[in-house]
Amino acid sequence: MVNNPHPIIESIVWTDQGVQYLDQTRLPWQEHYVITKDVETIAEAIERLEIRGAPALGVAAAYALVLSAAEARAENILRLRFEKAAERIRRTRPTAVNLFWAIQRMSMVLEKNKGSPVQEIIEALLKEALSIHEEDREMCRRIGRHGMSLIPDLAGILSHCNTGALATGGEGTAQAVITTAFSHGKTIRVYADETRPLLQGARLTAWELRKYGIPVTVIADNTAAVIMKERKVDLVIVGADRIAANGDTVNKIGTYALALLAQFHGIPFYVAAPVTTIDLATGSGDLIPIEERAATDLSIVAGTKIIPDDVSVYAPAFDVTPHRLISAIITDCGVLYPPFEEGLKNIRIHPAPLPDD
Ligand code: MRU
Repeated sequence: MVNNPHPIIESIVWTDQGVQYLDQTRLPWQEHYVITKDVETIAEAIERLEIRGAPALGVAAAYALVLSAAEARAENILRLRFEKAAERIRRTRPTAVNLFWAIQRMSMVLEKNKGSPVQEIIEALLKEALSIHEEDREMCRRIGRHGMSLIPDLAGILSHCNTGALATGGEGTAQAVITTAFSHGKTIRVYADETRPLLQGARLTAWELRKYGIPVTVIADNTAAVIMKERKVDLVIVGADRIAANGDTVNKIGTYALALLAQFHGIPFYVAAPVTTIDLATGSGDLIPIEERAATDLSIVAGTKIIPDDVSVYAPAFDVTPHRLISAIITDCGVLYPPFEEGLKNIRIHPAPLPDD
């Protein structure tokens, strides 16, 4: 069976009424869609993780910049609004490089169309944002196809955070590898880390995998070592928010601990990401800015305060997994094995052909 090119869930889409997105903070209790033409609404949605996941942040940033320009009647006004919106979106979340990459791509279109009639500039910006979205959809599909041979039949797979359609413009990154292997007939069980503090694994990954009909068991994050020891897990596969030039990978907090556990237990640890998540300008993971979240992310669970007043909280949103703990990096252009540096540098120039079905 071949993989369905269209994901079951569209977390973000462009419509005639503006940008429509699924508010991920309400899942799995409510499927609530928001339609907006307001840049600030999108910026706040990103900050609150209503829109989240590195590739989806790139798509959202691109659409927000189209909205910023849409009502302008003169080029100087359009440019002012665009710059202001770009500045606002840059300040939302610092870690996922896709967001900055998309802003840069949109800015280049603005530059290229300097002096054109305003309506043409707006159309060019929309065309670029739609391309960013469509390319991401295709990259997800290719990640799935390149990665599926790494999934053995009857595999127990440990996942972290949410790397599916909710987090991307397509069917996901790490999760696309899982869904593609599944749609090609492999029997799979996913162990989804609940992913404290914001529970992307428990709330979002479990919700998505159920829609695909893939068996999923949610575990507390601190159960990972035990299921590895019990040999329930054959591999770990995670996404990435930014991959440095040497292969160090920044992803959801807790990823580093999983990589250490996987190494101890002799289990492969895979990272799956589109090439847009690779940041060749940053040499190693310790140079990547790590977002620190508000104390309330940790101290309030489903509306209830769970930590005594006046107790301090430390809540980094991401951590760095050193490249030497990574067995392979699965991209839309092929699978890379250590050492990663050369491969990461050349992967866009020499992409691997897609494997046959
Ligand atoms: O804070 P989040 O939920 O945006 O973090 C998301 C992740 O860490 C994902 O693993 C990452 O963006 C890659 S998924 C496509």
